[in-house]
Amino acid sequence: MKIAVVGSGYVGLVTGVCLADFGHEVICVDQDASKIDALSKGEVPIFEPGLEALLEANVASGRLSFTTELAKSVAGADVVFIAVGTPSRRGDGHADLSFVYAVAREVAAAVSGFTVIATKSTVPVGTGDEVARIVRAINPGADVAVVSNPEFLREGAAIEDFKRPDRIIVGMDDERARAVMSEVYRPLYLNQAPIVFTDRRTAEITKYAANAFLAMKITFINEVADLCEASGANVQEVARGIGLDNRIGSKFLHPGPGYGGSCFPKDTAALVRIGQDFGSPMRLVETTAAVNDARKRDMSRKVIAACGGAVEGLTVGVLGLTFKPNTDDMREAPSIDIISDLQHAGARIVAFDPQGMKAAGVVMQDVAFADSAYTAATDADAVVLITEWNEFRSLDLARLKTVMKRPVFVDLRNVYPPSEMRRHGFSYTSVGRPD
Ligand code: UGA
Repeated sequence: MKIAVVGSGYVGLVTGVCLADFGHEVICVDQDASKIDALSKGEVPIFEPGLEALLEANVASGRLSFTTELAKSVAGADVVFIAVGTPSRRGDGHADLSFVYAVAREVAAAVSGFTVIATKSTVPVGTGDEVARIVRAINPGADVAVVSNPEFLREGAAIEDFKRPDRIIVGMDDERARAVMSEVYRPLYLNQAPIVFTDRRTAEITKYAANAFLAMKITFINEVADLCEASGANVQEVARGIGLDNRIGSKFLHPGPGYGGSCFPKDTAALVRIGQDFGSPMRLVETTAAVNDARKRDMSRKVIAACGGAVEGLTVGVLGLTFKPNTDDMREAPSIDIISDLQHAGARIVAFDPQGMKAAGVVMQDVAFADSAYTAATDADAVVLITEWNEFRSLDLARLKTVMKRPVFVDLRNVYPPSEMRRHGFSYTSVGRPD
């Protein structure tokens, strides 16, 4: 199959590289010439485990290439994936669809022969209809099927998620598109990934419903963690106890500083707006977003309490800045608000993150960046673990305690057993567990 992927951001790049690895002939398109230049040389602008090696291998095999020329790559393609960003529109939380529609216009003018246009970007219900309308208006003779094919991959595990998905969702109203999309994902039949064929609107809502449900699940366990903390129970055991019920499931029940990233905050806000537009309010989602926002402030209060009620003039060492491990992504990372609150309360922040410090330097002010966890902890009055990178799971606790001024450890990801921390002489606070 000949495939063009328009938009070489996170989703587009992973999609293009993995589809080439499936054996398809893939061309990735982006209007950013410097990005395309770098990608052509095998340089990947994001940190995603395994992506660079897979990209290099597929470029070398001749199946994967990069270009800024959309029209050329679209003409002759069997499938054109739209994988451009749909950021939150400033002010109202709606998904900004201007990039999607701009690409649709360009693609419409360039297609030749029967072409499937598949939207991978997360888009509100009805977007596929509008893409189809745009194509008809611009090129009435075009033989095109517009498909919704949302992506469910996680940053940090993107390749694994793409190659071993729980399911693939394909929304369409043209039977020819079913055959084409089956062919695109045929290599996955070996992994027995179910393909759910449905209509376009259902596929569009499925994506938002999945993300909103996961965001709600995290927020739920975070509230249960607060209740456990207040009542002397242990949230980790509650999560295990409820997670063993197959109807609930054990995943996404880890309490923490609140969800962040480029998807959950944006998609919950957009779903709330979509509900309002259709006169069908999404009250649970609305509350989820509000509770998650408030949680970051709660976390800085937790740190301040662990420091004895004030952090004025104290040094706080921060371990982990990115919104989750195995990424360099700082978008909506809880660390941003937690650090800014602590600074407002008078703390000096020294932080270390294995991949996120470059991006953090852009969004944070007056933070000193250290070159290791131990340097960040040196002379600190408290250490706060915000992101559970693997290297923070096996710290030399004796060494850590020796370099710190005061052995106060706030673990916002419940990485350590409280008893072990006590044994090492730390004053230890975690989330939803008895100290
Ligand atoms: C999320 C979804 O998991 C993907 O399925 C989806 O494709 C993607 O959004 C998207 O729409 O593009 P991602 O944002 O990469 O993926 O990261 P997650 O692993 O879902 O984590 C999101 C946030 O939730 C992180 O801040 C993480 O720390 C937090 N989280 C997750 C918890 O606090 N507790 C948990 O149990 C799980």
